[in-house]
Amino acid sequence: MDSVISARKLTKRYGSGDATVYALREVSVDVARGKWTSIMGPSGSGKTTLLHTLSGLSLPTSGAVTLSSGHKRHDLTSLSENRRAALRRTNIGVVFQEFNLVPVLNVQDNIRLPLRLAHRKIDKDYEQEIVTRLGLGGRLKHLPHQLSGGQRQRVAIARALLPRPDVIFADEPTGNLDSEAGEQVLSMFRELVDAYRQTLVVVTHDPAAADRGDDVIRMRDGQVVA
Ligand SMILES: Nc1ncnc2c1ncn2[C@@H]1O[C@H](COP(=O)(O)OP(=O)(O)OP(=O)(O)O)[C@@H](O)[C@H]1O
Ligand SMILES: [Mg+2]
Repeated sequence: MDSVISARKLTKRYGSGDATVYALREVSVDVARGKWTSIMGPSGSGKTTLLHTLSGLSLPTSGAVTLSSGHKRHDLTSLSENRRAALRRTNIGVVFQEFNLVPVLNVQDNIRLPLRLAHRKIDKDYEQEIVTRLGLGGRLKHLPHQLSGGQRQRVAIARALLPRPDVIFADEPTGNLDSEAGEQVLSMFRELVDAYRQTLVVVTHDPAAADRGDDVIRMRDGQVVA
């Protein structure tokens, strides 16, 4: 299989002694390039922890995560913090529950920030397309605090998409959206995968949303179940 992300025997332990929690127990997964992989499982089963680890945002207690980009392979678990941060700007897109928008930057500058930091050119046509599809055209000069929660979420989605990363990770991306806005995001994701072969990994509680994807990873008690 052509995998963008390969994780082997990921274990994540929080705390120690009686307070020890194993959020992940020897999880091995492969994320297929050009596909939409959904992650499902009960609350507390380790979905967010898995996403943070696969995206290089946090390190596992043990195990390895490899990102394949073109002909290069990057071992996210052994890179320096700086190299991991650089990869996260352009090769890995994230849409997490806390949107992490920069409060003093307007919508457009937030969307462009990862490319600016990486000194990369902005594809204005692609930006226009994303912004229009996400219904943000009239809000580009607004600051995050002037937006609704759902609009902030869509800004975070636009920011993740613009660099055309190898893979985009999204944690409950439709969780704060009404059914219509949620449906727009899901159809856009589907089109991005079909039209641009954008690889997506999406955590969701909604079986209908998971069904829009190509593969499903099911988690329980920190492990992947068949
Ligand atoms: N920083 C932390 N310190 C201690 N335990 C943690 C920490 N973060 C997560 N956990 C524990 O790890 C387990 C997995 O948490 P995680 O957030 O990955 O679950 P989840 O599947 O995303 O749940 P939800 O659907 O509620 O978002 C939980 O038992 C949680 O309490
Ligand atoms: Mg979670």
